[in-house]
Amino acid sequence: MRFKVTVVGAGFVGATTAQRIFESGYADVVLIDIVEGKPQGVALDMLSSGPVIGTDAQIIGSNTYDESVNSDVVVITAGIPRKPGMSRDDLLMTNMNIVGSVTAEVAKRSPDAVLIIVSNPLDAMVQHAYRVSGFPKERVVGMAGILDTARFRTFLSQELKVSVTNVSAYVLGGHGDTMVPLIGSTTIGGVPVAQLIEASRLEEIVQRTRDGGAEIVGLLKTGSAYYAPSAAVAQMVEAILLDRKEILPCAAYLEGEYGIDGLYAGVPVKLGAGGIEEILEVELTDAEAAALKASADSVQELVDIMAKA
Ligand code: LAC
Repeated sequence: MRFKVTVVGAGFVGATTAQRIFESGYADVVLIDIVEGKPQGVALDMLSSGPVIGTDAQIIGSNTYDESVNSDVVVITAGIPRKPGMSRDDLLMTNMNIVGSVTAEVAKRSPDAVLIIVSNPLDAMVQHAYRVSGFPKERVVGMAGILDTARFRTFLSQELKVSVTNVSAYVLGGHGDTMVPLIGSTTIGGVPVAQLIEASRLEEIVQRTRDGGAEIVGLLKTGSAYYAPSAAVAQMVEAILLDRKEILPCAAYLEGEYGIDGLYAGVPVKLGAGGIEEILEVELTDAEAAALKASADSVQELVDIMAKA
């Protein structure tokens, strides 16, 4: 029997996520969207690629939630994306309402699922989904650290003209302007990056990473990134379904780890069949710890705004 994954939102992030999971072949996919015909059309098109790709996995589209029942993983991408000039935080109240109602619908139909939240502003949305779902913290996780880290690794590999696979790095904290690339533990083929790139140039690469989402929004003008975000989600889904126990930077609910309590933030976690099976505490420099604290504070501000709504 194949696994079952529901993806809510058939926009670019949702559709490309569904495609990556469908093409992997180990899960059937339910794609849900409120726009009539859209998820059905996208799903039928994708299903018809099966004979060419050689997968017998199934994918269906729906405008209601009943098809999602008993999913192993539910990915929530629903919400509005940024337009040029907007920050992720500008989406807060609109996406809070959308993510809240979607979470309630999927949680009651798939009470044992792992929820992966992708909607922005990411850390606040995953915190909201955690509260609304009533799920244990292990089974509500946010995607963003893998994406931010992938951008950082891409830019470093281009700078040094080495394979992306040789660049090992972590970007922690909130998925926003305050994200925290850990320079101290970034290595290129095992060599600390600070030995290979001078500090001022490294700072430029860090800044481009922080602005990575906005750079793409500025180019696309009508939406935000989806190829790299969906690749990151697919990696998380695979780690969970195949119980890979893979260490990946994800948004996790912290209760004292890194000195942060009662809040979601991006940290390295072990992802397996149980969802977040462990939170890893990397040793941070004082500057990194301060930056992570500042990043958590800005997530807390959004959580406080939501609490007053
Ligand atoms: C990005 C948006 C999707 O970082 O948050 O591209």
